Amino acid sequence: MPAKFLRSFALLIFAASFLSTSTPAQRPKEPTTFRGVPARSTLADPSIEKKVEALLRQMTLEEKIGQLVQYSVGTPTGPGTGRGDYSEMVAKGQVGSLYNLESVKATNEFQHEAVEKSRLHIPLLVGLDVIHGYRTAFPVPLGLASTWDPQIVEQASRLAAQEASASGVRWTFSPMVDIARDPRWGRIVEGAGEDPFLGSVMARAYVRGYQGKSLSAPDSIAACAKHYVGYGAAEGGRDYNTTEISEHNLREVYLPPFYAALDEGGASVMSAFNSLNSVPSSANPFTLTEVLRKEWKFPGIVASDWTAVFELIQHGIANDGKTAAWKAFTAGVDMDMESNLYHENLADLVKSGKVTQAQLDEAVRRILRVKFALGLFDNPYTDESRENHGPLPAESLQLARTAAERSFVLLKNDFVTTRRVLPLASDIQSVALIGPAADDAANMLGNWSAHGNAQDVVTLKTALTQKMGAERIKYTVGGEYLAASDAQIQEAVAAARASDVAILALGEDTPVMTGEAGSRAHPVLPGRQEELLEKVCAAGKPVVLLLFTGRPLVLPWAFAHVPAVMEVWSPGVQAGPAIVRTLFGDSTPSGKLTVTWPRATGQIPIYYNALNTGRPAGNRDLTRPPKDGDERFVSRYIDEQNAPQFPFGYGLSYTDFSYGGPEISSKKLSAKAQQAELRKNPAQAKSILTVTANVSNTGKTAADEVVQLYVRLQGTSVEEPVRKLKGFQHVSLAPGETRKVTFSLGADAFALWNINNEYTVEPSLVHIWVSPDSSRGEPVELEITD
Ligand code: NOJ
Repeated sequence: MPAKFLRSFALLIFAASFLSTSTPAQRPKEPTTFRGVPARSTLADPSIEKKVEALLRQMTLEEKIGQLVQYSVGTPTGPGTGRGDYSEMVAKGQVGSLYNLESVKATNEFQHEAVEKSRLHIPLLVGLDVIHGYRTAFPVPLGLASTWDPQIVEQASRLAAQEASASGVRWTFSPMVDIARDPRWGRIVEGAGEDPFLGSVMARAYVRGYQGKSLSAPDSIAACAKHYVGYGAAEGGRDYNTTEISEHNLREVYLPPFYAALDEGGASVMSAFNSLNSVPSSANPFTLTEVLRKEWKFPGIVASDWTAVFELIQHGIANDGKTAAWKAFTAGVDMDMESNLYHENLADLVKSGKVTQAQLDEAVRRILRVKFALGLFDNPYTDESRENHGPLPAESLQLARTAAERSFVLLKNDFVTTRRVLPLASDIQSVALIGPAADDAANMLGNWSAHGNAQDVVTLKTALTQKMGAERIKYTVGGEYLAASDAQIQEAVAAARASDVAILALGEDTPVMTGEAGSRAHPVLPGRQEELLEKVCAAGKPVVLLLFTGRPLVLPWAFAHVPAVMEVWSPGVQAGPAIVRTLFGDSTPSGKLTVTWPRATGQIPIYYNALNTGRPAGNRDLTRPPKDGDERFVSRYIDEQNAPQFPFGYGLSYTDFSYGGPEISSKKLSAKAQQAELRKNPAQAKSILTVTANVSNTGKTAADEVVQLYVRLQGTSVEEPVRKLKGFQHVSLAPGETRKVTFSLGADAFALWNINNEYTVEPSLVHIWVSPDSSRGEPVELEITD
């Protein structure tokens, strides 16, 4: 069979195997989170260890240091060697990893230099930021998380791995597993949101997808859990800013997704830019050595973030490059990304005894281990015929479309006259399509688009035209993201007046306004878009607002006045078809928010799993400032509600669901019995409580619901959040159907990091909810006795 057909055939089989198993009822159970026991690693393989030791014995000091050095090929920025071409250094064995290579040809050329010219023929580890797809762009990670569907995330990252590895990339700097509670932070778009349980489930799904069944398969790529650790807690949401996180919160909130990624076999970790409790994360012995190496026994690579070793000087903990290299290396950073400081200083540090030979060898082992596990010594080159230069295969597009549809979160859908605005009636005669995102292919690819190609994108305008015909659509851009003329706004209003319905495609210019260094002090609709929205609404026609953003936006006016609002993120190559199918009801939204949406910027940080305080505002009416007779001295604002615009877990459907129960299999559990469970290997942990709830579809449309389980512990040695997510399931329900949803909880569901920072189960009163989001439902009570 010619290579071209073989390739399409393989993709067909690959896609078919996923698509046929993607029914919600078959979604796999996820292991629970951080138990404070060593993570299981697929890198721990005795046959690999033998090869590593044999090679290590032959290596000179310079060759060892070479393995710890990483550069980006292309235009140099910031500190580094000032080079863009590393062939000479590679040939001398002075480089362990390159990234940002442009093509499979370039990758193979560098690999030939490494394997054929360097004395010990050690292959390069070639990396890239493959974040939400390689060429087939999927929704941005925050959108993918909103599917609450680990299976689709695994499928998306599997396809990303297949495409990236066909270009010679064998290492991705993904997943970003930073918990983020602040929508001002631009990188909130790159993660799974604010919750450690959901974040852990997603972290595992990415790792499974990237690394496949075996790292050594030529279509597997090594994952990298980043940014270790606490980067998402940047003060004020300003990127790279300082973080202050207690050990308790680190263990409860920020560490679990890293542990999950590594327990799933993740091969590497990236150390973060931020300072954590006054010690930069890229030179932090507690997190890098005590937790990662000693507690979790992680045998893989820790690479610094881009020039993070150099930045120790700016942080003020090193006055020169040598000290920076020494601090980062001895804290536990194996590989120096871009700073050039290991290359320049490690030899002297070893010769002077400041870095021991044993420390150096250990770091080299970790790099070689991953290279052997990837099979790079046996197969260093990439078969150039695997790279697809033609159109994207139908199966990839289908997967991208499904992922996009499931990522949409319907935020509001009111009645206008006798029916809800969405789905649109199929016989609708005319639509005004307005907004900068309606026909913006680049925006659909979002931030970090790897080799995503705008030409592969089907925009909303194109898909809507295909659906309705050009004559029924009045398209007008209405302005750019950041600016609009009066004439553009007037033209949009006129188009709305002359149509049955107006669809506004508004939001952020996501490639530049989100992601790294994309923090915003004003997370609102930028430019004149809010004004455009208000004026179009005033035209008096039903309005559907589609939000293309990488973060929650503060839009109280829109949520009060626009009848239908749907968050669609940056949906990827199939943006248009996915949106049009959803607008017309061929697909029913089932996405749910994985971050709380504030109603005012002043509420930030705002997250559902907060502590109760000693003076909770409780059920008092918070929709107005306090007045005489109200209790003033409670934890509330005098000029704003406490409640968010939308809570974590929220998302509407085209149908309605009702919840019964929950019921539990036992009213009492013993703390001691559960503590014993916690000490077991997670794989052997038992279910200790069954929680059931009846969920009914009370509407007229078949739909999926994400059923969520939350707990609250009271009477514990430390304060526990008012709710913590401990389980979720998708159910597909026909109109009128009721399903009994069953959750089997293990001891982790009731465990906490106690006042002594021990992971344990304490005697407590437990409330358990099964609910459609984090703010609703009636709990059932459970007692955990001694
Ligand atoms: C800096 C970013 O913080 C990180 O996420 C990324 O992986 C590296 N640059 C490499 O591009």
